[in-house]
Amino acid sequence: MGLLKYISLRVRFLIKSLFYLQYMPSAFFYSRKRDRFEHYYLPKPSSESFTLPGKLLQATHHKQRVHFEFEQATLEIDFLAPDLIRINWLPGLVPIAYAVANHNWDGAEIKIEQAENNWTIFSDGLSVAVDIDGSITVSDQNQQVLREELPPQRQDERWIHQAQLRSDEHIYGLGERASSLNLRASHSKTYHMWNSDPGGRYTPGTEPLYICIPTYLGLHGSGSYLVFYENSFCARFAFDQLATAEFEGGSLRYYITVGKPAHLLDRYTQLTGRAPLPARWTLGYHQSRWGYRTEAAIRQEVRAFQTHDLPLSAVHLDIDCQVEHRPFTIDPDRFPNLNTFTQELANAGTKLVAINNPGVKYSRQSNLFLEGQILHAFCTYPNGDLVVAPVWAGGKAFPDFTNPIVRAWWSRQYAYLLDVGVAGFWHDMNEPAAFVSWGDPSLPKVAHHHFEGRGGDHREAHNLYALLEAKAAYESLQQYRPEQRPFIVSRSGWASLQRYAWTWTGDTASSWESLRQTMSTIVGLGLSGIPYSGPDIGGFQGNPTAELYLRWFQMATFLPFYRTHSSTSVVPRAPWSYGEPYLSIMRRFLELRYQLMPYFYTLAWEASQTGAPIVRPLFWQDSTDAALWEIEDAFCLGDALCVCPIVQAGASVRQIYVPKGCWYNFWDDALIEGGTAIALTASIEQIPLLVRAGTILPMEVGSQFILHLYPPECGNSKGYVYSDAGDGYGAARLDRFCLTRREDDLEVTWETEGEYNFPYQTLKLQVHGALVSQAWLDDQDWSMDGQTLQCTAFQTVRFAYSAGY
Ligand code: GLC
Repeated sequence: MGLLKYISLRVRFLIKSLFYLQYMPSAFFYSRKRDRFEHYYLPKPSSESFTLPGKLLQATHHKQRVHFEFEQATLEIDFLAPDLIRINWLPGLVPIAYAVANHNWDGAEIKIEQAENNWTIFSDGLSVAVDIDGSITVSDQNQQVLREELPPQRQDERWIHQAQLRSDEHIYGLGERASSLNLRASHSKTYHMWNSDPGGRYTPGTEPLYICIPTYLGLHGSGSYLVFYENSFCARFAFDQLATAEFEGGSLRYYITVGKPAHLLDRYTQLTGRAPLPARWTLGYHQSRWGYRTEAAIRQEVRAFQTHDLPLSAVHLDIDCQVEHRPFTIDPDRFPNLNTFTQELANAGTKLVAINNPGVKYSRQSNLFLEGQILHAFCTYPNGDLVVAPVWAGGKAFPDFTNPIVRAWWSRQYAYLLDVGVAGFWHDMNEPAAFVSWGDPSLPKVAHHHFEGRGGDHREAHNLYALLEAKAAYESLQQYRPEQRPFIVSRSGWASLQRYAWTWTGDTASSWESLRQTMSTIVGLGLSGIPYSGPDIGGFQGNPTAELYLRWFQMATFLPFYRTHSSTSVVPRAPWSYGEPYLSIMRRFLELRYQLMPYFYTLAWEASQTGAPIVRPLFWQDSTDAALWEIEDAFCLGDALCVCPIVQAGASVRQIYVPKGCWYNFWDDALIEGGTAIALTASIEQIPLLVRAGTILPMEVGSQFILHLYPPECGNSKGYVYSDAGDGYGAARLDRFCLTRREDDLEVTWETEGEYNFPYQTLKLQVHGALVSQAWLDDQDWSMDGQTLQCTAFQTVRFAYSAGY
């Protein structure tokens, strides 16, 4: 690093430290007040012992519901579908169904058998046995036991719920975690449900993070299941011989579904809602930095992308663009022509995304604050005082998003920024985060919330805060810009966030460990229902070496949210920052990302239909292969690609256990037999990338559509491509392809459904892994250019091959 750069970094660091110093007095007074109120109003730890349900007295059933009366508790089991049950232990505060998107279930035919000490309910999809003491055993339709629960324990408002874990059982999910992918393998094995801002920088092991979701997937030798606790209270989960979930309050209401991982996510997102199809541009590359202060600075950045011949789909504005860091502001002095500026960017193919934080400046000079006061929109202490806590730019009041009137008021605020062409919003600091001198960096647990009129406190509302803010924003964009699909990115959230927003992995340290961690965090989010996430490429806090930035960039090329972002106190970072050869390599990866757009877009459509995450763990390919259960340094993009990032400085080769079956090396078509660990080379130009045999991989270059055909080992394979106008809610089409391998030829057939016109001018088929000697298009001889065939629409193309495989 040059001397000048070093001095400028030190100066920045100093300024930043001074900047934080200004918050110290208010953080001190806020922390003191919070503690005083919590001390006075929080329920005191109970001296009561834990109670068990006692003995089962009687059971009755009505349609899909079976009702069990125990001596000291009531249990209801509802069959929402043959393989999805809701279990409800009472008493307990009934949750408001913020996370449940679907209330209309067809139910299931059930059959009940009573034995001396238990009742068993059977459906076509699973069976549940309830013992006389309240233990519950869930088995699949073949009577394979999947989960054995102990009787729950209750103490005042608290619930403890435990299930036996098998020795080979793996646990995944719980939202965003900086832990191993298998939550049972991590060092501490304890996870908290309390959305938290780790404070500007975190490393692997930091617990908890911004998005805690009480949903996990269990996988073992007899099968897999998913459980979702519909309880937003502060909780502790632990996984050793037992899976323990301990809630500070609320009800013990949870859902269980069984089946293969793909089926579990399908059911879970049917329950909590699916991620809607985003606009196509959102899947491109985004550039961001805490530090673009002016229109001119952004113009310069966008021009640099053009000069370096790099595609750019979006630029993000951070808090520096605002007036005193206030929500819904963009400083008109520094952005004097926002309206025409967004148009100018749009002409260059780039959208503008603006940040928004929920805290409203506590000041009579702020209209938003005055409006909020009139509406009683802000969270209060139990004595009615406003909760005012320091965040950027001093004391902030916090909208209570559990109040529908507040959500509607908040929704209206987005409208004028939409009018000037802002394309989307990223919600930050919405755990909600507050600057404190000690203790929890958020609102007091005793803060009052509206809860749709029923009332409640922050212990229950905290984890819902960002979810409901995202709901308000999503509904706003739907209402005020109905012809375009909303784009919201939210740092925090809860179960069902996927219905409204994407997320990113927050303030990661710039280190190789964090690069590696990114994969488990993102795959874990996907298994918790959230398909759209990505890291700050290069890490948020710190200055990555050229190699680290490049390796991070290469990995992120295959992640849904593809954005470089960094802190204000680090050296500005963009693909050209490190010169050659890095710039050219990143350009090639950017180009590859845009070429893969039909594949990404089809995966996005699939996520909107089935809840399948875009980025998947390797065990998604074959959940019966235990060798895949622990792999966390590689991931699959859809079912076709297996991405093996480089996670070590100086590495030029890496090991990977390849899922069973045949795979092709994306870079040279070499055939790889899976089911074993192999070493793959990875020069600085590439990261290992495998394509599953049987893949029909859609790619595009400009207006040309290219179908890459990777012959299956035998028989046939299917693939499809979804297309539409890329935004809005107009016509769509689905192109279905079938690839059949026979002894000496390969055939591809094409069928289409939907009204949208085929969006490409030319079409190419490229055969991999076989030497083609002759081709016929709809039975006519067709000339080949090497392994490539150029054509227009067809029904059947047949290739005779002379060698290969
Ligand atoms: C938080 C965000 C980060 C953002 C910064 C300033 O640390 O996580 O992305 O740049 O705040 O707004």
